[in-house]
Order: sequence, then structure tokens, then C-alpha cells
Amino acid sequence: MSAIKSSIADNLDEEFYQISPDILASFPRFRPPLNLFIFKESVAQIQLYKKAQERLDQAAQDELAALVAEGNIFVARSDHPIYAKHIAKQLDLVLVDKNLKEREIAEVFTVALTERLGEFFEQPVQVVFDLLYRDLMVLTEYLDSDRARIKALVRRLHREHSLPNHSFDSAIIGLWLLLRLGPKDLPRKTLDKAALALFLHDMGMCKIPAFIRDKPKPLTGDERQKVNQHPLLGAALAQKLNLRFDEITAAVMQHHERLDGSGYPQRSREADITPLGRICAVADSFCAMIAKRPFAEAKSLADAASELAGLTSRYDAKITTQLKNAILSEEWQFAAEEGPIA
Ligand SMILES: [Fe+2]
Ligand SMILES: [Fe+2]
Repeated sequence: MSAIKSSIADNLDEEFYQISPDILASFPRFRPPLNLFIFKESVAQIQLYKKAQERLDQAAQDELAALVAEGNIFVARSDHPIYAKHIAKQLDLVLVDKNLKEREIAEVFTVALTERLGEFFEQPVQVVFDLLYRDLMVLTEYLDSDRARIKALVRRLHREHSLPNHSFDSAIIGLWLLLRLGPKDLPRKTLDKAALALFLHDMGMCKIPAFIRDKPKPLTGDERQKVNQHPLLGAALAQKLNLRFDEITAAVMQHHERLDGSGYPQRSREADITPLGRICAVADSFCAMIAKRPFAEAKSLADAASELAGLTSRYDAKITTQLKNAILSEEWQFAAEEGPIA
């Protein structure tokens, strides 16, 4: 890159990022999904090169590929939501893209993993599970190389209730708690298993009839009883998918257990509830409280965390205090300061 080009590119970094040949290959070849910009060295400016959805013939595709290979093609950071939807199909590209900022990568993970969760809950079978698993392992690889990256994901919580949204939110909060409270040298393998378990803690819910699961009103007693079967249904599904490890049992079976024995399905108490089961219980309750439902408004993060921290007979106080302190401290002032990238 020439000196002038690199100094201009530095200035433009806030507004544009360069796209790599791998990323270009992930776009539909004939119609790029978003505006493409070209760096014109002669005038030292970035200009619109191809409009979104403009049809490209073979010659135009070849020219574009050559320009991308030379590092001359850019996309606008303001188009990131469109870009995120495309790259979400090939999540491994995120790890090799040097042009994305941490929060943009977090957005791609959010879109991708929520989509994979939705597909799996619709069709909870091995082949669909494998796709979810592959993408989850991209996330753990990304987090394993710098565990502070979880913070950018915490900023992307959905806050609107649906089973995939709730599963994503709970897993991210659960992972944040695990990375904060767990051993510093948590092995990658353990991180992988814990992440998978947290994302799938409610997978039994996909076996509950949709009219109960998505009911826009509070549940009746009978319906509640059915819903309360979901940890057991989840455990059966884990068996079917050959997921036989402690972390999955802890998350699936224990996230509704409470320290005082008031939970379900086994009314477990204190020492019977594992550390991951306790983390998952806090993450699950917190994410349910901060999500908007048709019949209930979302609580603020601070209110939800404070309420949980007050329930010391049910939830592990070490975990709820950690969550509350982080939210009340500056570290987590994300809700107000940074909305979704738009
Ligand atoms: Fe649950
Ligand atoms: Fe849950």
C-alpha cells in the first residue's frame, strides 16, 4: 500500500473496511448484497463502485475480484448488519478477517449463533446439531485466544424473548460468569463443553408444543406442569445426540434447581447443585427477567441483577454478587452507551 493510500485508509477506517477475497467469495457472485466502494488513488478518495444488488456480468465480476485482491474495495461500516447476515453463513471467515472491529465480530456471532440455535430447535437432529456445533467451536476458539472478548458479546444481548434469543443470551451471560469465576487456566476442552451446555440448557423446550411455548399470556397450572418437564426432555435429547458429559447434565438438569430445594425437576439442594448448574441458574433467570415478553415488560439489567442478588436462599450469592457488581460498575454500562450497530 502506498504512503498516501495508507494514510487515507487510516482516516477512513472509522467509516469503511476493506474486504478480503474470502469475504467476496461468500457474497452472491452476480449481485453484491451491499454497496461496494473503491479507493481512487488519483484523487485520494473512496467512491461508490457498485451499488447493492447491481447485476454484475462476468467481466465485471473478474474486475471486482482483481480489485479486491489488490485491496482496493471497501464496504461501509454502516452496512455492517447486512454484511453480518452474509458472513454469518461462513463463520470461520470471521476469525481470519483482520478488518473487523471486536464489536462487529460480536454482531456476526450473535446473528450466526442465534440463527443456528433456531434451526436446531426447529429440527433437533444430528445433522442440524453438527452445524450448530461447528459454529459454537468457532466462538470458543475466538474466546479462547482472548477471553476478554466475551465483553463485546455481552453488549449484544437480544432483550426480546424467543427460545433462540433466550438461549443465546443465557449462554453469553453464563460464559461471562464462568470466565470470571472459574479457574484462570480453564482448559479449552472444558470451555467447549460448558459453552455447548449453556447454549443448549433449554433444548428440552423445543419438545414442548409451540402453542404452550409461545403463548402470549401467562401459563395455566397444567401448562406450567408440562413446561416443567423441559429439563428431563432436554436430558433425553442430549442422550439421543450422544452428548454425555457432566457439563451438559449440569446445565440442562440444574438450571431450575434452587439452593433451598424449591426448584425442579429434582428439588436438589446446596451441594447437589454443581458450580455450572448454579451459573446456568443465574444466567437463565437473569436473561428471562431482562427479556420483553408479550405479557411482561423487560426489567432493567440493574433491577434484575439486584433482585437476584437479594434471593440468597435460592441463588449462589457469589455468582449473583459478581453479576450485580459488574452491572452497577462502569464495566457494564453497555445498555445506554452502545445500542445495536445500525
Ligand atoms: Fe429452562
Ligand atoms: Fe432458560
